[in-house]
Amino acid sequence: MSGRLILGLETSCDETSAAVLKAPDTLEGHVICSQDEHTLYGGVVPEIAARAHVQRIDEVVDRALEEAGRALTDVDALAVTAGPGLIGALLVGVCWAKAAAFGLGKPLVTVHHMEAHLFGPSLENPEAVPPFVALLVSGGHTLLLHVPEWGAYRLLGKTRDDAAGEAFDKVARLLGMPYPGGPAIEAAASRGDEARYHFPRPMLRRNQHPGDDGFYDFSFSGLKTAVVTLVREIEADRALEPEKENIAASFQAAVADVLTEKTMHAVEELDCPRVLFGGGVAANRRLCEALAKRLEPKGVLLNASPRLSLDNGAMVARAGAFRLERGEVASLDASADPNLPFPGLIEAST
Ligand code: KG4
Ligand code: ZN
Repeated sequence: MSGRLILGLETSCDETSAAVLKAPDTLEGHVICSQDEHTLYGGVVPEIAARAHVQRIDEVVDRALEEAGRALTDVDALAVTAGPGLIGALLVGVCWAKAAAFGLGKPLVTVHHMEAHLFGPSLENPEAVPPFVALLVSGGHTLLLHVPEWGAYRLLGKTRDDAAGEAFDKVARLLGMPYPGGPAIEAAASRGDEARYHFPRPMLRRNQHPGDDGFYDFSFSGLKTAVVTLVREIEADRALEPEKENIAASFQAAVADVLTEKTMHAVEELDCPRVLFGGGVAANRRLCEALAKRLEPKGVLLNASPRLSLDNGAMVARAGAFRLERGEVASLDASADPNLPFPGLIEAST
């Protein structure tokens, strides 16, 4: 199986991306095209995203193949994100991959977007393999998992409302910053005072124990509301502008505390000091540093560069290589599913 050439496609949201991967983990070509059409609207517009994928996917694949020095006919299998994500956006990648698999007579593998995020760091760091505790944080999901081996995922906790990335995006919009909000908040926060305001740390209480309701769960909508309330108070009284960086820093510090505390609960309870941090929010340096610091001295943080933390085709190809190795080939009537269940996920309390 190793040595097979996999073309991975990602179109679940607003990145059109293709990667050429020599299984299991040699990246030969990788192109990510981020759609900037959405900036104007302060969030991803599904119809615009789908149309932009249609316009770009051929070129993105061609460029990835060119970078790899390969032809489409060299490809041994196609891997594509089939969900979760925006249905119109997902369908572009899935239809493209199905057509190519049919035309080439090669196997098609459908990939779960969040499982793909789990594989991202392993493309840069050979140590980023199970067992580990995984904190997967993106624009749509916040998941805490125990991963004893690839394909076996025990769900410890998830968000009860907004995902952490969504909170970054909403707070950024509130502060008049562009979409996506994460990088904008991170940049502003680096110039602000994180002790200036104290925001709540939702779902973190003293004396919590494993088995307690919500021990591992997250909630970010109350935090966002606390920022809204503060912004209104400031605006009623004085100019908001000089406070934006302080608000961004204080908000980011609250998110960092919640994510690190919950993750450390799992590290301690499972006695597993290896933590994989994946998903777009893992591009945030301040959050990575907070986790790495808490894991010292004996723990290790397994994360990727922003390029492989944010949505990309390489992680899809890598997850596809894993599924292909297990013989999990999709039929050509496979479709996209915006609510695709996480494969191998066991929803169990600790
Ligand atoms: O995984 P991803 O690229 O797409 C989804 O699967 O949703 O994650 C995108 C999310 C967005 O909410 C974006 O604001 C956030 O990741 N993000 C960040 C940073 N870069 C992207 N959040 C915090 N800090 C960042 N530097
Ligand atoms: Zn993602």
